[in-house]
Amino acid sequence: MMTRKGDVLKRLVIEGKHELSGTIKIGGAKNSVVALIPAAILAEDEAIIYNVPAISDVTNLEIITRYLGSDITYENETIKINNKGLQNKEITSEYSSKLRASYYYMGALLSKYKHVEISFPGGCNIGSRPIDFHLKGFAKMGAKIKQEGDKFIISAKTLKGAEIFLDVASVGATLNLMLAAVKAEGTTHIYNAAMEPEIVNVASFLNSMGAKVQGAGTSEIQIVGVEKLKNGIVEVIPDRIEAGTYLMIGSLLGKDLVIEGIIREHLESVLTKLHEAGANFEVKGCKIIVNRTKKLKPVNVRTLVYPGFPTDLGQPMSTLLTQCEGESMFEETIYENRMRHIKHLNSMGADIKLFDKKAIIRGKTNLIGREVIATDLRAGAAMLVAGMIAEGTTIVTNIEHILRGYEKIVDKLSSVGAVIKIDEI
Ligand code: EPU
Repeated sequence: MMTRKGDVLKRLVIEGKHELSGTIKIGGAKNSVVALIPAAILAEDEAIIYNVPAISDVTNLEIITRYLGSDITYENETIKINNKGLQNKEITSEYSSKLRASYYYMGALLSKYKHVEISFPGGCNIGSRPIDFHLKGFAKMGAKIKQEGDKFIISAKTLKGAEIFLDVASVGATLNLMLAAVKAEGTTHIYNAAMEPEIVNVASFLNSMGAKVQGAGTSEIQIVGVEKLKNGIVEVIPDRIEAGTYLMIGSLLGKDLVIEGIIREHLESVLTKLHEAGANFEVKGCKIIVNRTKKLKPVNVRTLVYPGFPTDLGQPMSTLLTQCEGESMFEETIYENRMRHIKHLNSMGADIKLFDKKAIIRGKTNLIGREVIATDLRAGAAMLVAGMIAEGTTIVTNIEHILRGYEKIVDKLSSVGAVIKIDEI
């Protein structure tokens, strides 16, 4: 995400080492809602999405949906969309570059109009992030794809059900192809589909409109195309990444800190790893009660696709590993560029040696407040965790990245005792 002349720059100012107690309520999942809003344009007339988090990615998708002519309102954590005025307009890079998820309008508009013109999406700079699986899938369904600069023109006389095998179980490609397939002629199978809970959430939404999606949440999804979709309704699932981040913070600073509104199953890999590190927490239904653990054990963390340890929690976890007594390993396997925060952690006093996508972390190290950069969203979360446990004051710049994915982060943390504020510069 680029900042432009005239934009107000924001930074987080964190005073470290404050004990946290009280309750943090988890919001709706970013990576679900960013697909649900584009998917909503498939509804015949109206769609309702409940439990929408207040994050800037949502604001940017509201802007795109409104630009396309749909009426969209966002009040009381609820988005209502009316598609009566919807038109198939080109989505220029002015709109698409604001976030990664703008690419879901590709599948949605192609499904609805059999034609879409859209520029390359934006998003965090965490690797090359190509969209070749999405495009190959559309082509298999009979679409013709033309690229002019960074603009894609994708058209099909008719979209036909297809047998699609993904080289990598990509979340974005699985969802985009699901969107394209719901109104295609015949049946589509997506093999090696991503199994993330967000895929199930989007499939439920589409099915509420009358789509026939089966198998979401497994590696094989079947979509029987239907001619018409009706109105849609869905509730966004809790954000497992937000919950995991607060759970890590709670393991370092909590005093009966309650993290409320989780789905345990979605967090299993994270809970298992924190348990292995000796973290002190208890899951009670949809709540986790977490306390500071004085002596954390070193562990090895390797990010994987779901149900493995999520890549989006690898970076904040690496901060926690600086507090484990002994040598831990953190390895990222999904993206090439998830280690840009390491030098900032080291500048605060961490002892981390980086070997490409693998980091060896020696702990426990005392972190000291410094000025550091949120180089991307989850790197920002890693710096936030670091600032909260560091001695003195930490300033995190470029926090626009953090605000894309963590709702009301300052309010939520302040309400449980953190000393944290946003400064505008
Ligand atoms: N890939 C390709 N070609 C493609 C698509 C993906 O090579 O056409 C590769 C990617 O380069 C990457 C891997 O496949 O190495 C997985 O990418 P995936 O498509 O699953 O990621 P994504 O859909 O771009 C979403 C989330 C990410 C999250 C990943 C994995 C959204 C908007 N983004 O990205 O979220 O890390 O799935 O769970 O849903 C974040 O929240 O910080 C974030 C980056």
